[in-house]
Amino acid sequence: MRHIVEAGQFNTQKIREVFDEADAMRAKFESEIPAHNRENRRNLALRHLGMNVINQFYEASTRTRMSFGTAARALGASVEHTEAAKLFSSSVKGETLSDTIKTVSQYADIVVLRHKDDDSSIVAAEASDSLPNGAHIINAGSGKNEHPTQALLDLYTIRAEHDRLDNLDIIIGGDLKHGRTARSLAQLVSLYNDNRITFISTDELQMEDDILDVLRARGIEYTMTDDLHATLPSADVIYWTRLQEERLENKALRSHFTIGDAELEMMQPNAIIMHPLPRNHEIAASVDTDPRAKYWDQVRYGKYIRMALIDKLLSHGEI
Ligand code: NCD
Repeated sequence: MRHIVEAGQFNTQKIREVFDEADAMRAKFESEIPAHNRENRRNLALRHLGMNVINQFYEASTRTRMSFGTAARALGASVEHTEAAKLFSSSVKGETLSDTIKTVSQYADIVVLRHKDDDSSIVAAEASDSLPNGAHIINAGSGKNEHPTQALLDLYTIRAEHDRLDNLDIIIGGDLKHGRTARSLAQLVSLYNDNRITFISTDELQMEDDILDVLRARGIEYTMTDDLHATLPSADVIYWTRLQEERLENKALRSHFTIGDAELEMMQPNAIIMHPLPRNHEIAASVDTDPRAKYWDQVRYGKYIRMALIDKLLSHGEI
């Protein structure tokens, strides 16, 4: 694939290749010998000198934008940012996303795009393909629809902690209707055998049919419930998300699901608690010190996954 647009582009073979490369990047950064880390980092920083990555972010971001930026720089590429593109790009003057991408992709080898429209990265990929040397497009969050690189780092975290990607009881909970990370992750975990997914939310915020159709087509077992406590004791993975306030049509909707000390008591000793972050009240800060909390590890792994993706695109022109 020349662009990374949606989770559906990935199969288990492609995912394994990305994870192998992320493992290699991680080993270079996390060697037990500090002098080796510095040496590795110097060498990596020569790898893609002269290449350009542009972060075009129309929506707020901390982790995704910074991890793509630092990942690209770690590989020697330069990085341009339009971090408030909604305010500072020519979209203010009425330019279409397609025209902006046709411009930006002439300055860049890769454009990392976050935008409020569900189809934004598909529109961007088409715009880039209409030029002779258009940049690779990486979807860093398209509306409520997809966030494929987050799903890859989430899956990488599950593998890092459980040492397998199959035969897992996985809770995906929170605002699943508007949560693009949950939608992308559900698709990726459904590529592996014998995973059982429990979607936990209120009726109004449950997982949408298009994703459930993918799971049904792949023969993946799933249930939908609002009963967190009944589900927690059997879960291997608890993937928790915030209410996407900015995407709600009905601003009165609330998500009352919280993981705190009482919920920790109900979980298996080797369960893992994940969250794409940012969190609001849905995971108590006291949970952070529990060894099962893995959301800060997700943040760390995210950089290696993004290094792997950028390196593959810049080295081979495709993933
Ligand atoms: C998520 C996103 O932007 O979709 N954040 C992230 O990229 N880690 C989750 C969210 O905003 O709730």
